[in-house]
Amino acid sequence: MLDQQQSSIAGKVNLFLALDIDEFDKIKVILPSLEANIQGIKVGLEFLYMHGWQKLIEIRQNYQLFIDVKLHDIPNTVAKAVRALVRNCHPNIITVHAAGGGAMLKSAVLEAQEEAYRLSIPAPDLIAVTVLTSLEKNDLNDIGWPNSSLAQVLQLAKLAFNSGVNGVVCSGQEVGLLRAVLGPKIRLIVPGIRPTGDAAFDQKRITTPTQAILDGATDLVVGRPIINASNPPRAAQLIQQQITDAVCRRV
Ligand code: C5P
Repeated sequence: MLDQQQSSIAGKVNLFLALDIDEFDKIKVILPSLEANIQGIKVGLEFLYMHGWQKLIEIRQNYQLFIDVKLHDIPNTVAKAVRALVRNCHPNIITVHAAGGGAMLKSAVLEAQEEAYRLSIPAPDLIAVTVLTSLEKNDLNDIGWPNSSLAQVLQLAKLAFNSGVNGVVCSGQEVGLLRAVLGPKIRLIVPGIRPTGDAAFDQKRITTPTQAILDGATDLVVGRPIINASNPPRAAQLIQQQITDAVCRRV
């Protein structure tokens, strides 16, 4: 999908490393070895419950910080959790679940902006997770969502967009549709990235870096294809090369 809209997002693709690693010492070894081949680090439940947010100071350096906690609760609770994350971590991105509903999404966006304003720091982007990339149609049906994953992602993305979020998380299989429907400005963050031939593990809706970018992704999230690689710096470099090539192709 190379069209007029996408030219306005060309050149803005970030590679976030998902730091789903139990041993903090291993994180401290792997990160410096990746140098310029990643733009940001993504810490989620695994990192925060295992190591604690205080450990971020030791590894953050100049990387963009993506706090992937996928908040999903009543609006008041989510707003207070967002406030605490902004205050303690000064993140660039925080995730919430779109399925938490419009009121929850709006209160999260508002609280992020207000707390950042109180602290005189840039507000983080509030990003809504649509449908986890580990789920496909049968899984959705099991939890009572009758739609296909594509239709479900679209519905949740529209809700999130209309609630004022800065972007959504989707798989590479939906990114083209969301770019076409939601326009050039929304941030589309894509996990489930697998270079050709890499193991899927628990992910079901996977895509190559190249395809996700050609379809309009602004950010890629990669964990195991780099962390589990026999040579992580080389794996990150190869993915970064594919990103650079794909960004050139979509200009
Ligand atoms: O190791 P892998 O590349 O599969 O890691 C993907 C990362 O992206 C994980 O940290 C996971 O929590 C996150 N993620 C995802 N699917 C979503 C949202 C986030 O896989 N829909």
